[in-house]
Order: sequence, then C-alpha cells, then structure tokens
Amino acid sequence: MPKIRNVHSSITHDSARKHVSGKAHYVDDLPEPSNLLHCYFGTSDVAHARILSMDLSAVEQYPGVVRTMTARDIPGDNEVSPAHNFDEPVLANDLVQFAGQPLFAVLAESRAIARQAVKLAKIEYEKLPPILDIETALDRKSFVIDPQVMRQGDSRAALSTSPNRLQGKIFTGGQEHFYLEGQVSMSLPQEDGDILVLTSSQHPSEVQHLVARSLGKPINAVNVEVRRMGGAFGGKETQAAQWAIITAVFANLTDRPVKLRLDRDDDMRSTGKRHDFLIHYDVGFDDEGRILGIEFEHALRCGISADLSGPIADRAMFHSDNAYYLSNVTVTSHRCKTNTVSNTAFRGFGGPQGMVGIERVIDAIAYRLGKDPLEVREINLYGLKERNVTPYKMTVKDNVLHSLVADLKESSDYTQRRRQIDAFNRNSPVIRRGIAFTPAKFGISFTTAFLNQAAALVHVYKDGSVHLNHGGTEMGQGLMIKIAQIVADEFQVDLDKVKITATNTGKVPNTSATAASSGTDMNGMAARAAARKIKKRLISFVSKEFSVDKSDVRFINNHVEAGEFEMSFAELAEQAWMGRISLSATGFYRTPKIHYDPETSSGRPFLYFAYGAAVSEVEIDCLTGESRIIRADILYDAGKSVNPAIDIGQIEGGFVQGAGWLTSEEIWWDTEGHLRTHAPSTYKIPTCGDIPEIFNVQIWQKGRNREKTIHRSKAVGEPPLMLAISVHSAINQAIAGKLGGETLPALDTPATPEAILNCLSGA
Ligand code: MTE
Ligand code: HPA
Ligand code: MOS
Repeated sequence: MPKIRNVHSSITHDSARKHVSGKAHYVDDLPEPSNLLHCYFGTSDVAHARILSMDLSAVEQYPGVVRTMTARDIPGDNEVSPAHNFDEPVLANDLVQFAGQPLFAVLAESRAIARQAVKLAKIEYEKLPPILDIETALDRKSFVIDPQVMRQGDSRAALSTSPNRLQGKIFTGGQEHFYLEGQVSMSLPQEDGDILVLTSSQHPSEVQHLVARSLGKPINAVNVEVRRMGGAFGGKETQAAQWAIITAVFANLTDRPVKLRLDRDDDMRSTGKRHDFLIHYDVGFDDEGRILGIEFEHALRCGISADLSGPIADRAMFHSDNAYYLSNVTVTSHRCKTNTVSNTAFRGFGGPQGMVGIERVIDAIAYRLGKDPLEVREINLYGLKERNVTPYKMTVKDNVLHSLVADLKESSDYTQRRRQIDAFNRNSPVIRRGIAFTPAKFGISFTTAFLNQAAALVHVYKDGSVHLNHGGTEMGQGLMIKIAQIVADEFQVDLDKVKITATNTGKVPNTSATAASSGTDMNGMAARAAARKIKKRLISFVSKEFSVDKSDVRFINNHVEAGEFEMSFAELAEQAWMGRISLSATGFYRTPKIHYDPETSSGRPFLYFAYGAAVSEVEIDCLTGESRIIRADILYDAGKSVNPAIDIGQIEGGFVQGAGWLTSEEIWWDTEGHLRTHAPSTYKIPTCGDIPEIFNVQIWQKGRNREKTIHRSKAVGEPPLMLAISVHSAINQAIAGKLGGETLPALDTPATPEAILNCLSGA
C-alpha cells in the first residue's frame, strides 16, 4: 500500500474556491440575528487637545439611535494596550492625542443611522501643540519607551582607524495594511452576561482578554471566534481589540447583539500602520568594501502609545545587519512618541526597516569605491566558520546564502544582464534601467520569548473523520491547509478526512498571535503532537486487542496494519470507541533553544534564519519619474516546504507588497496632523499591473531546515517582503546612471515618481 503524501505537496488553499465564489464566511457575511444593533464611533478632528465638553444630546435624539457610549460607560478598564501599559484608551478620556482618535460611540438600529448620528456631536477642544514628526519628537525627547542600545566590538575605535568612512541617512516611509476586509466585530450576548465575539483578529486570545477586562469580567465569560480574516498583514495583531470591545460593551449594556464594521477611510485614519524610520549611519570600510566599523541610529514613529513598538524597534535592530558580518557595531534605537495613530505590526515587524538601512550602506560603499554593489554584498556576507557572529552575539550556523546567491546569480544571468543594461542606457536618455541583487536573512521566532508557544486540539470521530483545531488563525496565508496536511499525513488519511475549523478561545486557550511567520512552525508541531497522542492510544489498543507487537503497527493509506492484521482507519476508530479509548487529545509546543538578555543585548533570540535573494531589474522614465519592475528573479529557502504552491504565493505576494511599500505607498499627514492619504484615491497599493512583467519565483531545491522544525520546513510569511529592497536599490542605480554614475542618489522610500524626479533634478 503506497504512503499518502500529504506534506511536501502543492495542495490548493482550502478556501480558494470559496474565496472566488463568495462562499467563504467573513464576519460581515454571517446571517444577522433579528435583534442585531449596529454601532459606529466618532473621532477627534484635532491632533492634540483637551476635551472641554462633549455634547451628545443631538446624537441621542436622532431617530433610530438607541444610546451612546463614552469612556465612562465602560464598566471595566478603558484600555486597549496589549502590554497593559495603560497608555491607550478604547475611547479618549479627557485628552485627545491624535486626529482620528475614537472619542465616543453610537448604537443604532442601522449602520447608516449610527454613521449619520455621529456627525451631530458637539465637541469643544482646548488645542495643545502636537508633535507630528520624528525629528520634533527626537528634539523634545518624546518617547513611548526608553532608547535601547545594542553593541558588539568597538565601533568608535574601528571608525576612527578605517581607511574609508561614510556618513548618511535614509528615511523609510510607513505603510497602510490595506487588508481587503477591514476591521469588523460582532458581539452576541449569551446566558449569565457572557459574550461571544466574532471578529477578524490575528490574536483571538488577546481580544478575549481585553474584552473581559473592559467588561470587568473573568476571561472565561468571553469567547472569541475567528474563522478567517480577509488579510491582516500584522494590522490585526493588536488592532482588532478596540472594535471588539466597543461592540461587547454595547452588547453587555443592552443585552442585544451588536456589530461594528469600519469604513475604509476610518480604518485608515484610526488604526496603526508600519512605522516610518529615520536611520542615520556612520560606516568605516577597507578599500575592497569590507565593513570594519558601523554605527546606526534608528528613530521610529510609534504614535501615541507603545503598542508593539518595543519589539518592532528591537526586530529592526536585530536586522540592522541583514546578511552581513558587522564586527564593530553599535545600534541605538529611539522609540518616538508622536500625536499620530499608534503604529503597529506590519509584515516584517521592523525587520524591513532595519534591512533597508544596511542595504543602503552597502550601496553607498559600492558607489564610493566604484564597485558592483553585489561584489560589496558578497564580500560582507556572514562567513560559514568565521565572521559569523551577529551584533547580538548569536552564531549564524545555518547560513546558506553563499550557495543560494551563487545559484541565483547564475539562474538570473545577473552579470550578463548588468552589461546589457549599461549598453541599453547608453542609447536611452529618457528611459533608464537599473538592476540590483539583494539577499535577506530573517530571524524566525517571536523575540518576546514566552510568545513562542502553541497548542492544538484534535478529535477523531467514530467514522474516522478528524476534527482539527489549533491556536493559529487564517488570514489568507494558507495556515489551515498546511496544518491539515500535517495532521492528515500523521494519521495517513486523505486530506478531506480532516475538518478545518474556526479558531476559538474555548477550544485552545492562552494562544499567541498568529505572527512572526511562525504559524506553521508552532501550530504544526502542536497539532502533530495531538495526533501522535491519539495514534499512540490506537497503537496500544491494536496491540492488545489483536495481539500484535506495538512496533509493527503502521498507519498507511487510510489503513492501519500490523503483520496479518489490517483494518481501515474508520473501522479502527469505531472499534477503539467501542473499546472505550479516548479519541481526543491536545498537543502543545514550545520553541526550544531560544533565550535573550536585553541588558547585554546577547543571546539566541531566533531558532533559525530564513534566507532568500532577489534580482530586480527596473526601468524609470526620467520625464515623469515613473518606475516599473520589468523583471524579478527570486530564490527562497523554504526548507523542505510543506506546501510549495502556498509558499510560492507567499513569496510573490510578499515581494509585491514590499515593492509597494518602497515605491508607491506614501503615507502623508498635513501640518495639522490630519492623515491625507486615507483612501485608495490618495494611497496607491500595487495592482496586477504592477507585478513584474517577468517574475521568476523559485523555492530553493537544496533547502532543508537544520533545526528539527515541522517536516524540516521554514517560515515563509514575512521574509519575502524584504526581497523587494532590490527594487529600491535598482531604482537608485537607474537614477545614478542618468546623473553620471558616481554618487548614490538621496532617494528615501517610497521612491514615488515625485521622489525620483526630485533626485533627477537635484532637488
Ligand atoms: N498572507 C496573506 N495572504 N495575508 C496576510 O494577512 N500576513 C503576513 C504573512 N502572509 C498575511 C500573509 C504576516 S504579517 C505574517 S506574520 C504571516 O503571514 C503570518 O502567518 P504564518 O505565521 O502562518 O506565516
Ligand atoms: N513578531 C511579530 N509579533 C511579535 C513579535 C515578533 O517578533 N514579538 C512580539 N510580537
Ligand atoms: Mo506579522 S507583522 O508578524 O503579523
């Protein structure tokens, strides 16, 4: 009987057909209870002020309005901070801290009524001066958390003795998540004042805890369920809780179900984004371009509260080396407090910003020395046996970049194409091309060690069908199908025997967010552990019942066999049930080996690294400043991929999302602190037309995780985004070529047409 191969195979996403046929359930598609009420919220239109008075009488008198809610109506904590810092209220108390901050909420018979009524509020402010940018925050020492420093060796001494030295800076812009499904929650009152919350969150347990706290109830009074999100990208790691709380408090006050779905503009104004960073560097290097000493100064816009800014800023520091050995290095990080919406997780979680910093440095060195930037990249790559310790003193033991870079160099025909591009540019004054090759190394594990735990719950029913539940959430990334593959493989049953079910805090408690790209690594291990427990019981049962040796019992192709004995998995399930064997089990996983001491900035924060590299060729129009990617070649180490088709989708999507961040997506606040880019009309995300014309995406066939991860696979969710740094670097090269070639243009991110034209005109 052949083994069924459920893992390492390209299986279609379980929801693919449901997505395109409209049959996939999202919170706003669920049948509405007949007594459902709808709510909406009113926001501040000033960035910083004291509230002198808030008159909601006209709101309350509007026909169809049931009641209003302010901070005072929240029975428990008016607090949405994930770290429990008490620095972020659900509804503002007396102080307004950013334009777009929720101040009050309205409950009504329809969503339209609630939204109309919101406009009738009369609010008087005493305006206070706002801090609206990173520089001002730095000047005023306005921080959400104290600055952090990471160092290895002696950067000062190395800088002063280096034969070459460069100083510079780069600003990396923020990014709006632009998930297709906006923030949404529906709360349904249960018996005894309990609440069921259906929401779109990467972190159901945190929503559960925060809702319970806001109601002043124990956690077990709240149950949170998430079937899937229509995209999240980090934007629903912490930011779903506020809306869930508003619906839960209203439901609690009225004993009626309540729904809230954010309008796109309000979603953009009132929820956090990727942090913009201002990065200064000071680097010393030898004549070949080898970095001898370096100092980075990161300053990031956190907005009004800490949210996840601490770990995000840390991850930026952890990735300020990217793939390069920095022997003498100091990284300082300033976590700036501004009167703008509190920024949050976004695919890469600070990593991309840190990596843009060092890639910029590498380009600067190459331009100074007149070398191919790839040569400078290669010479600085982490070594295999030496030159392999990170700035946080973790030895890089799994470095595959030398081999992977060589493979991509060949398959992308980099060297030859670089020459062709030079030739093309000589005869093309208006359309100019550039090419760049950048590697990526990304640390896998939550840097907050205790978050590296996961659990699962597996049942086998007496007909042999399997119910699968775990703490991970589906946001489009294909987590559910991968975990189902792992469980089906363990039982050796067909994949359609395994039922994928909604994430539910009543089934698996105290979960971590599905984040840090570790969803499959952790939940896959937990689910397999649960399946193995059940298998073990079945093996004992078979051994006793049919007098066969335990070690002979094999699960294969929907059957269980041992010597002469053979039975279908379904028959065995029925027999085991009759024999009073428990067919339900939980599984648990904690990531091994990781530790980190922030005091000495040393340890092993990551179990392993994910690696990849990309070559991007771009074209710019020197008259309009427009750019496009004409070809991108990507090689990504997914280890032994559980599902190559899903992983390819993640690589393509991540790269294109990264290219959007670096080229077209611009977040812009005016001088009053109003977000002016709050709709697709003013905020440009990539569309099909922006996908590279030639897009060669490959999983590296030699990949295999040297750590014992689930089926030796590697994480794939975030790292491919960082491969898009090659696009920015290539645009720089195209501009530099036009300007004469010697100096690296002062091109920040995003490289919008306007920014490119400014560089070309020397503005
Ligand atoms: N892919 C899709 N389609 N939608 C998403 O929201 N989020 C990304 C990535 N890929 C996202 C996605 C982010 S930020 C993370 S951390 C990972 O998926 C989380 O899922 P994983 O841990 O299962 O990879
Ligand atoms: N990644 C994503 N989310 C997180 C992390 C991380 O490293 N740490 C805490 N939350
Ligand atoms: Mo992803 S930014 O870790 O949710």
